[in-house]
Amino acid sequence: MVYICFFTDLIHSDHIVIIKKAEELGKLIVGVISDKAIINCGFYEISGYSERKAMFENFNGVYKVVEQKNFSYKENLEKYKPAYVILGNNGEFSFQREIREEVVNILATYGGKLIEYVCPYILKYQDFKNIYRRRGYLSDTRRARLRKILSIKGFVTAMEAHNGVTGLIVEKSEIYQNGWVNQFDAIWISSLCDSVMKGKPDIELVDMTSRFRTIDEIMEITTKPIIFDGDTGGLTEHFVFTVRTLERMGVSMIIIEDKTGLKRNSLLGTDVRQTQDDIVRFCAKIAAGKRAQRTSEFMICARIESLILGSGVDDALERALAYVSAGADAIMIHSRKKDAIDIFEFTHKFREEDRFTPIVVVPTTFNTITEDEFKAHGINIVIYANQLTRIALPAMQKAAQLILENQRSKECDDVCMQWEELISMIPEE
Ligand code: SPV
Ligand code: MG
Repeated sequence: MVYICFFTDLIHSDHIVIIKKAEELGKLIVGVISDKAIINCGFYEISGYSERKAMFENFNGVYKVVEQKNFSYKENLEKYKPAYVILGNNGEFSFQREIREEVVNILATYGGKLIEYVCPYILKYQDFKNIYRRRGYLSDTRRARLRKILSIKGFVTAMEAHNGVTGLIVEKSEIYQNGWVNQFDAIWISSLCDSVMKGKPDIELVDMTSRFRTIDEIMEITTKPIIFDGDTGGLTEHFVFTVRTLERMGVSMIIIEDKTGLKRNSLLGTDVRQTQDDIVRFCAKIAAGKRAQRTSEFMICARIESLILGSGVDDALERALAYVSAGADAIMIHSRKKDAIDIFEFTHKFREEDRFTPIVVVPTTFNTITEDEFKAHGINIVIYANQLTRIALPAMQKAAQLILENQRSKECDDVCMQWEELISMIPEE
């Protein structure tokens, strides 16, 4: 047996050469990476597993095609014990060394042999990468991505970005863990962070035109789906225009909260005056937004502030069911408590009535709960809403202090990012 694994849905002449050589060594088993593993590392527009499987099955010389669950070869190598494993290395992924090491160790347990090839035509590889990029460039494709990820994985993580460079950080952050390449699935554009970064309070003061500029700046250099914090959505007559603009830009989801009047940040809870909207009126806003959109992919999420404003789980539940009936594509339940007892009581009651509508949470205060626990409680989207802003501001304050204290910049420069790092962080094309 010979084992090789692919995740591509585009075949070029190198693949053909490799497959031909491999089949000379024995019965060739092709592992095809699962949809979930592919979408987890940010390749959104690759054909589905069954298409890719069929493609390799119809290759002359391929004995069998099997699914490889993630980027680790372990499971399939232990199952098939191939005499040879063929590994390609185009130097593209940082985690390739770890994968190789694991393969070498497993082969050593039964005397298997590793055959490596280095992809000689890097230019060809780049061309293919550009094809993938082009597939994902247009707003239509980006908009559809959130629903796509939800349908493949059932669970989405979103990370806050408030400008181009933070967008880039969310786009590029990646870890390799237990065979999975994990990235954030989506970008959250927070009203709090978008406002704070402009030195403004989070009271719907930063107008929509400015918020759209933030989105555009982030979109220019990222590919991940965008979830936009739409505050209260404003007047219904204005909201319908916001929906159309966001949808046209390629945003995947707007979240609007059921507050009315002067909106204050939810983490302030009842420490300040804020008013929850009337159910019927908020339902009308959701319904108007749904009528306004032109595609089936754009999502409107209704955010329930009952736990924030002290009106309790039953009120939240009544609202959630009403909002879904009015057309909401998702529900966000928010809390500022340190534990998630109320949140989980809500999700269990809601799931008894509605098994499918995605539930969103923003665990800024109940931050000890893990993603697996959220999943187990029926939650589908977890938003890390403000961490990039909150880590940056103290660092900036510290830089200013150090320079004031020392009347020169050396002490500050010693703890700063180096120039080379800064420049190489930003791609030139
Ligand atoms: C935001 O990030 O702006 C939010 C979430 O709306 S919260 O700050 O918790 O209200
Ligand atoms: Mg907000």
